[in-house]
Amino acid sequence: MQEINHAGAGGLWAELVSNRGFESGGLHAPSIIKPWSIIGDESSIKVSTDLSSCFERNKVALRMEVLCDSDGSVVCAAGGVGVYNPGYWGMNIEQGKTYKVVFYVRSSGSINLSVSFTSSDGEEVLATKNIVADASNVTNWTRMEVMLESNSSNTNSRLQITTPKKGVIWFDQVSAMPTDTYKGHGFRKDLFEKLSLLEPRFIRFPGGCFVEGEFLRNAFRWKETVGPWEERPGHFGDYEPCSFLYLFLLWHLLWEGPQRKQNSNLAEDLGAAPVWVINNGISHQESVETADILPFVQEMLDSIEFARGDSFSTWGSKRAAMGHPEPFDLKYVAIGNEDCGKPYYHAYPDIQVISNCDGSSRPLDHPADLYDFHIYTSANDMFSKTHRFDNTMRNGPKAFVSEYAVTDRKDAGTGSLLAALAEAAFLIGIERNSDVVEMASYAPLFVNVNDRRWNPDAIVFNSSDVYGTPSYWMQHFFTKSSGATLLNSTVQGNSSALLVASAISWKNVTDNKNYITIKIVNFGNSYVNLKMNIDFDRTSLQLTGLKKTVLTSPSVLDENSLENPTKVVPLSSGFQMSSDDHTYVMLDPHSLTSFDLL
Ligand code: AHR
Repeated sequence: MQEINHAGAGGLWAELVSNRGFESGGLHAPSIIKPWSIIGDESSIKVSTDLSSCFERNKVALRMEVLCDSDGSVVCAAGGVGVYNPGYWGMNIEQGKTYKVVFYVRSSGSINLSVSFTSSDGEEVLATKNIVADASNVTNWTRMEVMLESNSSNTNSRLQITTPKKGVIWFDQVSAMPTDTYKGHGFRKDLFEKLSLLEPRFIRFPGGCFVEGEFLRNAFRWKETVGPWEERPGHFGDYEPCSFLYLFLLWHLLWEGPQRKQNSNLAEDLGAAPVWVINNGISHQESVETADILPFVQEMLDSIEFARGDSFSTWGSKRAAMGHPEPFDLKYVAIGNEDCGKPYYHAYPDIQVISNCDGSSRPLDHPADLYDFHIYTSANDMFSKTHRFDNTMRNGPKAFVSEYAVTDRKDAGTGSLLAALAEAAFLIGIERNSDVVEMASYAPLFVNVNDRRWNPDAIVFNSSDVYGTPSYWMQHFFTKSSGATLLNSTVQGNSSALLVASAISWKNVTDNKNYITIKIVNFGNSYVNLKMNIDFDRTSLQLTGLKKTVLTSPSVLDENSLENPTKVVPLSSGFQMSSDDHTYVMLDPHSLTSFDLL
């Protein structure tokens, strides 16, 4: 999962404020305060940025000079003057829910502030609290915290801080978070749930190109992302070049924020193995000389120590201080992203090292346990790639297909059934070649509809709603593939060229029973009648239930949308066996069908 399309900031991470430290223009003043805006006209308020913050690594602060007063020559408008933040295209504030607002403030005089959630035009107040403090209490930077309970709902709200009182006030690190995040861990519940339904077995982070950066100066630097949230300098991502991402570090392993609870991290919450991708001294535009690679190697080794070192090690002790004394189960490290041909190194022999060179066509010229394989292509090509791994060497490093998707715009739209079917055929090919392909993940995972930097994606959302594309639902058909046993299966008949199928058996850990799942993609536009012969071990399979699940739609280019989120979703029904060992089935045109024998 990479920070792209606001997957994290403005997505899974439930922080509502965008540009909370006023650093989106960089670590200098004047900086850019966007999307913050000013409430009041020039005669009543002046807003600028300076470098007076108490946070050494985030020096930019907002300076608000209020020229009006309740009884001065310039009288403040009703409600006062101040600033507001619309979050990431509107904050979703829900009736009866409580939000924690934290900010830092300083002033030479006393302060009288209103902290409120309002509608996007400021007309309707959803929740508000007053903060009054004497000058002596705010001469130095002071942390303020208010809990706001909303009295109504609005998916396009804003946070505002206003005052009716003349004076100069500085603000910094303004955060607003719902208190009902997933387990209180700071993840937006609806997005976390959508993700967890895919039952991911691993999570690859932080990229993708995000790891590399356009230039090395904006390559991902993990050490900048540990420590108190107010001190983390953020990151100019590859896909959000103008925004300053406050993505908590290594958040997939461990994150700190105003809402943080001990031990909260995405990998463990998902029950997924972390796959840590490190920068290998290469950006899109530059690469360091081999002689200068040592600092990058050290950074990688330090990151592994952070994840796995004991509480007495330099970096392990920092992890322990962040609330996670026990080491993480880090078993995979990927070196670089899409920049094959550069040096490799090997340490921590029990860690699986993932090369970013394609080892499927010819042997790697360097040691690696796995090789990264990316494929973005048209639907027809992806469908044909069901055979991509049929002839790869069986004794070299295994493939880690960390990015696959149909991206051809005419086939994929913003996430079509056609794309999902072609990808299903590709995944069935992977299933059939699981001796040489260890892991696979669709990419990218998330997109905020308000800022699509990459298309298509699996999970689409705005401030309040979320849906899965057909490619997202297609992945549900494969949640049992990991650890399953591939069974011999063949498809014979006239239309077999457009059919791709597999059969697996798997053990359900909850009831300890064996199940068989048969999946068939019909890539053609006609119905297909099939006779399914099933030769199974009746002692281990009880045939207590037969379930058929179909992903299809009237048009192969059909998509889901915020307005119609369930147009293309799997539908399940029962089915009958014709006899003990075979049955006749009808496949819909352009469909993915699974048959579960329980
Ligand atoms: O997944 C989107 C991008 O595609 C990744 O950042 C990059 O690795 C690939 O080019």
